[in-house]
Amino acid sequence: MVTGDQSWADAVREATAREMGDAASQDAAPEASHPVRLSVQHLDLYYGDHQALKDVNIDIPDREVTSFIGPSGCGKSTLLRCLNRMNDLVKDCRIEGIITLDGEDIYQDYNVTSLRQQVGMVFQRPNPFPMSIFDNVAYGPRGLGIKSHSELEGIVEESLKRAALWDEVKDKLKSPGLGLSGGQQQRLCIARAIAVKPQVLLMDEPTSALDPISTQMVEQLCIELKKHYTLVVVTHNMQQASRISDTVAFFLLGELVEHAPTAQLFSAPRDQRTADYLTGRFG
Ligand SMILES: Nc1ncnc2c1ncn2[C@@H]1O[C@H](COP(=O)(O)OP(=O)(O)OP(=O)(O)O)[C@@H](O)[C@H]1O
Ligand SMILES: [Mg+2]
Repeated sequence: MVTGDQSWADAVREATAREMGDAASQDAAPEASHPVRLSVQHLDLYYGDHQALKDVNIDIPDREVTSFIGPSGCGKSTLLRCLNRMNDLVKDCRIEGIITLDGEDIYQDYNVTSLRQQVGMVFQRPNPFPMSIFDNVAYGPRGLGIKSHSELEGIVEESLKRAALWDEVKDKLKSPGLGLSGGQQQRLCIARAIAVKPQVLLMDEPTSALDPISTQMVEQLCIELKKHYTLVVVTHNMQQASRISDTVAFFLLGELVEHAPTAQLFSAPRDQRTADYLTGRFG
């Protein structure tokens, strides 16, 4: 069971990294320059009779941006949702295989609440709660039992700074989150996600509802955030994947076709299907 004990978590992480080092070099996945944080092993996922993920194996390194690309319906969001057990409540959804976070099985060793504290999610459409900017960010920490106003103030400020929103909202923290622009709302949602001090941030097409300037800000933010967090980003935008990612995973019909360092995947893909997708032959 995972606790908030940082030194313990660090020890597990190091042990996992040692164990995973061998595994990572065995399959054709990119050499991880950082220890593996999340590991997906032989994952099959079925929605009723429909198999949406087929024997997916992927290691997600710590403090890097891993992007998922591929045509609509190939299973990107499905896999992302598995990483914090968002599929648990989906009727007729069945999962086989193993996903570990720092070596612990997320379906066996975690309860959903502790997992989601470690693995936060940012959605395609910004979805601030109908409450103030401050309360949006303080929501998670309050849920974890933090009551001290000064402590909450510190967390809210730090989270908004990390989300590159502080300067724009510091004088109106009591204003409604829904009163912000779309791009600001998305950064507010990122601040809300990081306020509970997660290890991993999952983002499903986080800029597809944003204008180009807000998109650029969120992309820049991803590059900043990876200093502190492991990021997994689903995107349909190849330029975005190439700008922000350390590694890119290409999916097709529920299969992980190829996972490689970004430059390699875009310039010299190993699989013909990846090359065909990148050159627009399908999808
Ligand atoms: N809740 C669900 N119930 C049944 N089938 C689903 C469900 N969610 C997704 N699917 C199916 O699983 C497959 C993968 O869907 P998913 O949403 O993961 O694709 P995606 O790669 O994220 O696509 P997009 O790029 O359009 O967002 C699709 O065939 C989809 O219809
Ligand atoms: Mg999707």
